[in-house]
Amino acid sequence: MSEIDVVILAAGKGTRMKDNIPKPLHEVAGLPMLEWVCRAVRQIDPNNIIAVQSPDEDFSSFVDQTAVQKEQLGSANALESAFDKVTSEKVLVINADMPLMTGEALQKLVSSSEGFDAAVLVASLKKPNGYGRVIPVGQRQVVEQIVEEKDATTEQKKIHLVNSGVYCFRTDYIKRAIRQVTDDNQQEEYYLTDALPGAKIIDLEDWRDTLGVNDQKQLAQVNRYARQRIDDLLMASGVAMIDPENTYIDANVIIGSGTVIKPGTVIEHDSVIGADNEIGPFAHLRQKTVTGDDVHIGNFVETKNAQIGSHTHIGHLSYVGDAKLGQGVNVGAGTIFVNYDGKNKHQTIVGDRAFIGSNTKLVAPVKIDDEAITAAGSTITRDVPHHSMGIARQRQTNKDDFWKRMQHEDFAEEYVEKNLHQDK
Ligand code: UD1
Ligand code: CA
Repeated sequence: MSEIDVVILAAGKGTRMKDNIPKPLHEVAGLPMLEWVCRAVRQIDPNNIIAVQSPDEDFSSFVDQTAVQKEQLGSANALESAFDKVTSEKVLVINADMPLMTGEALQKLVSSSEGFDAAVLVASLKKPNGYGRVIPVGQRQVVEQIVEEKDATTEQKKIHLVNSGVYCFRTDYIKRAIRQVTDDNQQEEYYLTDALPGAKIIDLEDWRDTLGVNDQKQLAQVNRYARQRIDDLLMASGVAMIDPENTYIDANVIIGSGTVIKPGTVIEHDSVIGADNEIGPFAHLRQKTVTGDDVHIGNFVETKNAQIGSHTHIGHLSYVGDAKLGQGVNVGAGTIFVNYDGKNKHQTIVGDRAFIGSNTKLVAPVKIDDEAITAAGSTITRDVPHHSMGIARQRQTNKDDFWKRMQHEDFAEEYVEKNLHQDK
């Protein structure tokens, strides 16, 4: 393949999102859209990835180089801002708001563009609203014109073939052709699509790849498709999902085979789940949850930055944050790892086969040794040594004949006054 640079157009204002987050940083399955695009373009092995950004943003951590578009005058003007950094024979240009684009589709675009000055990826959408419509030259696979929705006639709006927003150009061609582009259109913008007449039309195999994100509804839709792809890959590798539509797994999550994910479960980025786990229903595994094999994490359990050894059970209603648990640990219902003192986060360590009684509070930093026990209802603030039981709760007293005495009105009134209203 020829030498190629990539330019990611990421300087648009994203006003249709109506929030304060720069559009390329909106997350899809736990990764910023811009990161998805970078992952896809890296697969064509470019010499250089350049992001065009507005003067207010800095996307330099994602790419090799950045270029600033001073004023948002349109996609053609955005590309022009990067021209002095484009030195390879070819250049692939991609909008930053299309996280579902795949490396395979980009490879197809680049290889099919051989012999053409320009090529564009297109798809046929059932609902093409909002996209630029592609008008071919007769029956040929070549662009006559791309018409933006806002400039389209009623007839043109009926066209289903849309511009995906990904192009491959011969660098010397586009540097010349862009000079002819004017802002003579409804939006008074310099449209990159006006440099596309004559471009080779290349069909996308999966129309979802083309989906762009301009508003919150499209962001939700793209998230759904991204998660579907993640789920499909996981299921193909032997992960069972009771109800994939109600399971939310980020990109960057690894799950071993034989693991069952039950409904309502969220697993966030940078988590690694072992084999034969049972997760959920309604478990929230936040970032950096790492489990061994045969781990059970049940209903309403939240974990974060937690290493959980094989054969460990955390069945119900617990928070496990900043923790390291050994193998074969039992964490009773309602256990809270108290990891935050208002200023700093601290770690809790629980050894192999330890037994954490229900409703224990483990106030970090604290260590429960191998085969140590905490009594139910304890607030543990000191380490519990090997084979010991830590018990830290008030001793129970039983008042004799209490029910009978409560039947006397005077006693009841006095008791309530003394014991229950004493704070007043
Ligand atoms: C664009 C295409 C449209 C295509 C659609 C696919 C143009 C004129 N239209 O429309 O044909 O069907 O994408 O999703 O290109 N940007 C800048 N600077 C600017 C303007 C835009 O960097 O001054 C960037 C944006 O950040 C974005 C990309 O260019 O990543 C496309 O801009 P956007 O406003 O999203 O264009 P669409 O209306 O979606
Ligand atoms: Ca867009």
